[in-house]
Amino acid sequence: MVSPVKRIAASILAADFGRLGDEVKAVEEAGADWIHVDVMDGHFVPNLTIGPPVVAALKRATRLPLDVHLMITNPERYIGEYAKAGATYISVHQETCPHLHAVVQDIRAHGCKPSVVLNPATPFHTLDSILADIEMVLIMSVNPGFGGQSFIRSALDKLSLARRVKQERGLDFLIEVDGGVKTANLAEVSAAGAEVFVIGTGIFETPSYHATIQEMRGHMG
Ligand code: DX5
Ligand code: ZN
Repeated sequence: MVSPVKRIAASILAADFGRLGDEVKAVEEAGADWIHVDVMDGHFVPNLTIGPPVVAALKRATRLPLDVHLMITNPERYIGEYAKAGATYISVHQETCPHLHAVVQDIRAHGCKPSVVLNPATPFHTLDSILADIEMVLIMSVNPGFGGQSFIRSALDKLSLARRVKQERGLDFLIEVDGGVKTANLAEVSAAGAEVFVIGTGIFETPSYHATIQEMRGHMG
């Protein structure tokens, strides 16, 4: 099998929001592949962040794909707004979508790439019937809501299972991981099966984004 391309999605949750445009340009110049945008509603997760106007502003600030992670209840109500704001990928939580297939179709109908997220306690096999219809699976390696948490090690088994199922079924969804990924554990997370690494504090809390991303690339395999 050809080795998958590995990508870094810089999570702006850890950026300086007062200088968001500059921060996004800085990680783009430092070599990030995607910008990961965490949308939280204070309901599905115990934190509040940003909405469509900020996504639209980010779209104007960077040419990188916008990877929009919706941690909100009733995400189906907002797909059109995030698509219009310029989302490339739209990730919805399995736990928020009783009609997941319909939501995935709607994301595609709006011209975006559909992705489904699993919380740490949600089994991978809950996605068996949707895998052929999506562009990416996002495996949470922390409980969603906050940056800077510790990596939950059971995510490694879930990443490996995702890779095995992808290979066995000949599918091409990307395998993304989000939470607690740092330079120190990147090699292990990559070896388990991750292809897209969401990294917030692991980049934004370091003195040189460029040096950090370069070092990370050396561990990605
Ligand atoms: C957490 C968010 C993450 C967060 C990751 O709910 O989904 O994207 O920014 O932050 P770090 O990389 O600091 O764990
Ligand atoms: Zn996220």
